[in-house]
Amino acid sequence: MMLTFWGAVLLFALLDSSQCLHSAAILRLNSCTLKKSVKDSLLSIDFSKAMAKPPPPAKKHGHQKGDPAKGMSQMKLLNLEFVEISLKLVPDVGTNMTVTTKIEVGGKSILGGNMDIKMEVNIITATRLTQGENNCPKFVCEACQTQLLKVKANVPSGVLPGVINKFLDKTLHKLLPTMLCPTVETVLKSVNEKLCTADAKYPLGSHGFIDYSISELPEVTHHFIEIHINAMVEQMEDAIHSSANSSAPMTITSKEDATMLGVSADLLNSAFAKLQEEGLFNVDITEQTLSTLGMPPSISSLSAMMPQLPSLSQSFVLKIAMKDDAKVALYLDNALLTLNGAIELWDSTATDDLQPIFVLNADIDLKCGFAIAEGKLKSMVTLDKTSLSMVSSADDSLEVSLVDEFVRTMLNDVFVPVVNEELETAISLPDMLNINFSNAKMEILENLLLFSVNTCSA
Ligand SMILES: *[C@@H]1O[C@H](CO)[C@@H](O)[C@H](O)[C@H]1NC(C)=O
Ligand SMILES: *[C@@H]1O[C@H](CO)[C@@H](O)[C@H](O)[C@H]1NC(C)=O
Ligand SMILES: *[C@@H]1O[C@H](CO)[C@@H](O)[C@H](O)[C@H]1NC(C)=O
Repeated sequence: MMLTFWGAVLLFALLDSSQCLHSAAILRLNSCTLKKSVKDSLLSIDFSKAMAKPPPPAKKHGHQKGDPAKGMSQMKLLNLEFVEISLKLVPDVGTNMTVTTKIEVGGKSILGGNMDIKMEVNIITATRLTQGENNCPKFVCEACQTQLLKVKANVPSGVLPGVINKFLDKTLHKLLPTMLCPTVETVLKSVNEKLCTADAKYPLGSHGFIDYSISELPEVTHHFIEIHINAMVEQMEDAIHSSANSSAPMTITSKEDATMLGVSADLLNSAFAKLQEEGLFNVDITEQTLSTLGMPPSISSLSAMMPQLPSLSQSFVLKIAMKDDAKVALYLDNALLTLNGAIELWDSTATDDLQPIFVLNADIDLKCGFAIAEGKLKSMVTLDKTSLSMVSSADDSLEVSLVDEFVRTMLNDVFVPVVNEELETAISLPDMLNINFSNAKMEILENLLLFSVNTCSA
């Protein structure tokens, strides 16, 4: 027991140190994706709460009573409309961003009556990408200033333009950053939340989960932010990084300026192994299965080939059960899922005789295609190679060649469609910034599945 415990401690100590090398997935964000996320946040945030309370009064610099710079009181941000965003990635730092907004500020004029000012203002910010709680990527605002572009004031008659200009110069320049920079904080908070996978449970199959986490500070270049994501399936023993022999450190070599999600062969292997353990590749085929699928009852037609079968019985069950770890291998343009298990034919009416009619060993190679739909990795398999061998049979004269065609038909027409249906939603991918990879271009590379979306044209 102790030995196991220290073994585990040692293992995890090793895992910790190798985490940087073996990422399960990589998310590469280009500036368009980030810009879209900022824009979505701006459009979805309810600023009315922030607007409800007036900003702290601008500091007075010894103005005398009646100074036109103090010409307005109880100033409030009445409306904020976003016009456009320009966002630039600053390598090794974060972003420089300018958000152009149309705002409306209202207040009381000292000459009596309401005063209303409509402005177009640039909010200019510099952010730094840091690591926050749970190592999640976190943008922190390092600098924020405002730039007044246009102004149109509805002022009480009798106020001279010169007075207004003086007022705008002196007061608004102090007031605008106080009013608008908190908006940036709100937006960044919302973007940061979408960059964090830590609190989400990502389902795997029907009983498992994948924990996606981030351990290192993402890299920022001129063209992208690259986030290395670690994954762990529900049980500790199944940690992706527990395989010391795992593939080389994962990198994306593509030069394309797209937003990309890379899924490593290691992650696929761990996920498929878990799905196999859960029984996803175990399928029982009965006459009823076949009639539900609209197929002719072909199990009973076996009687013709095998006179030793109880010919009147229609109650056979073909049990397909995969028992070794499902393995996925990714080569250039090629993904292969390898299964090994047993295929057994039972007469389900025979209660006294618990012998299967035959037991085959099956090595099944499936070609895999992949797509992403609603945050799930959708895998689609087709039979590639199947090798069957007889392990035992109720009748010595029963040879593989006799049942070969029948078993292959069952694999192709029943097993594969059933498995594909299960695989459609079995594996959840990390969801960050609500990127829609549904129409992504998919490439199978050496040990890496790469999805790319052009978020700049969207
Ligand atoms: C980003 O903004 C900061 C602060 O405003 C500025 O010092 C820096 O030069 C800008 N960097 C680039 C690449 O524009
Ligand atoms: C796993 O590691 C062992 C020992 O370092 C090595 O001999 C073997 O070739 C590796 N296997 C794979 C599949 O990389
Ligand atoms: C993602 O894109 C697909 C295809 O363009 C679309 O059908 C789907 O509704 C989108 N999903 C979301 C959540 O926007």
